Amino acid sequence: MATATKGATPKNSGAGASDSMLREFFVDELKDIYWAEKHIMKTLPKMKRAATTDKLKAAFEKHLEQTRKQVERLERIFTKMGETARGKKCEAIEGIVKEGEGIIEETEAGTATRDVGLILAAQKVEHYEISTYGGLAQLARTLGRDDVAKLLEQTLAEEKKTDLLLTDIAERSVNYQAAAEPAED
Ligand SMILES: [Fe+2]
Ligand SMILES: [Fe+2]
Repeated sequence: MATATKGATPKNSGAGASDSMLREFFVDELKDIYWAEKHIMKTLPKMKRAATTDKLKAAFEKHLEQTRKQVERLERIFTKMGETARGKKCEAIEGIVKEGEGIIEETEAGTATRDVGLILAAQKVEHYEISTYGGLAQLARTLGRDDVAKLLEQTLAEEKKTDLLLTDIAERSVNYQAAAEPAED
């Protein structure tokens, strides 16, 4: 732990400081997830088009709508924090999305195996979002911003629900259908 040098008394320089390093870090992470959500927004229509079953297509469509609202919610959060909504490239999501695109290329259109792959890729995205929003909501509370935490928790709940829905689609039908599909070569 660094010691305070510029006259700030350690007792008062904690969570409540409006210009704390933690606040700066928090805003930086907001930019990261803002970029990520916008990237996901562009990707979901491709995933929907690539999906085989109507169930999965509908799930992606629904989450696209939710993601649009999540982007707006983040914009509200930026405003609340007195910041301009700006994205910062999120390498992790870019990588996970790329992997998802690879899955589309490697699986055959119209198969249940394609859907298994898409679900796997989508769940990696959801888990990234769940850990990010969970952490950010916690940080918002630490910063004394319960109003912001509540908004982040709304999105967190949507991501968790989406993850469960994808598990449900996989476990109820798609995985079994895929298991019955013969290998090509
Ligand atoms: Fe999201
Ligand atoms: Fe999501």
